[in-house]
Amino acid sequence: MDGNGRWARQRHLPRVAGHRVGARVVRRVVEECARRGVGHLTLFAFSSENWRRPADEVSVLMELFVRALRDEELRLQEHDVRLSVIGERGALPARLQDAIARVEARTADCRGLHLHVAANYGGQWDIVQAARSLAAAAACGALAPDAIDEAGFAARLALGSAPPVDLLIRTGGELRISNFLLWHLAYAELYFTDTLWPDFDIASLDQALAWYAGRERRFGRTGEQVQAGAAGA
Ligand code: FPP
Repeated sequence: MDGNGRWARQRHLPRVAGHRVGARVVRRVVEECARRGVGHLTLFAFSSENWRRPADEVSVLMELFVRALRDEELRLQEHDVRLSVIGERGALPARLQDAIARVEARTADCRGLHLHVAANYGGQWDIVQAARSLAAAAACGALAPDAIDEAGFAARLALGSAPPVDLLIRTGGELRISNFLLWHLAYAELYFTDTLWPDFDIASLDQALAWYAGRERRFGRTGEQVQAGAAGA
């Protein structure tokens, strides 16, 4: 969700004004994805590197997350959206940790869209914590090193049993992954748009989904194989 700061600067507003508008866009996009039957949506709200930002911007962002959780709690449940936060949450402010725990518990039985919010998340951190957990299981004899495979590794990542990412959307014009879901993006289709996140609307979402629908997903096979498979299906 890149481009909040630039959106605000273009309007001679403080950067945090862009984050506030960005939070409203989050609500619309989540509701629209839930309405369309998307199974999983992961939003990169705050990376492990974002702590390097000015302290007042970080604290506004944390406050915005607390407020969004409080304001959206009921609405998430009404839309059957299950919320999970991924990332190293122990470093987040206690108030935010409490709000996260409350909304996660309240929406745990929701079976519509599963919304994952990445907060203090880094793809490298995720891979390391999964490796650490596998190493601990191996060290105490609960797991044979030879038994470690891709599926077992993925299950220990923060997204757990969520499927691999089909489509990554990055707004704001940068052509980078920025330490997002490194493992899960292995075969994702990557969609980059110059639209700044506060300007990302339902039409922008439609454009991204239409682009995705036109992609041929080969997963290592040839185009002829994929087409023959589709014709036989
Ligand atoms: C990146 O834009 C955006 C962020 C680091 C924060 C994202 C947060 C929100 C959209 C607000 C609320 C989110 C939730 C889940 C309630 P940037 O600041 O790097 O923009 P720039 O590249 O233009 O400076």
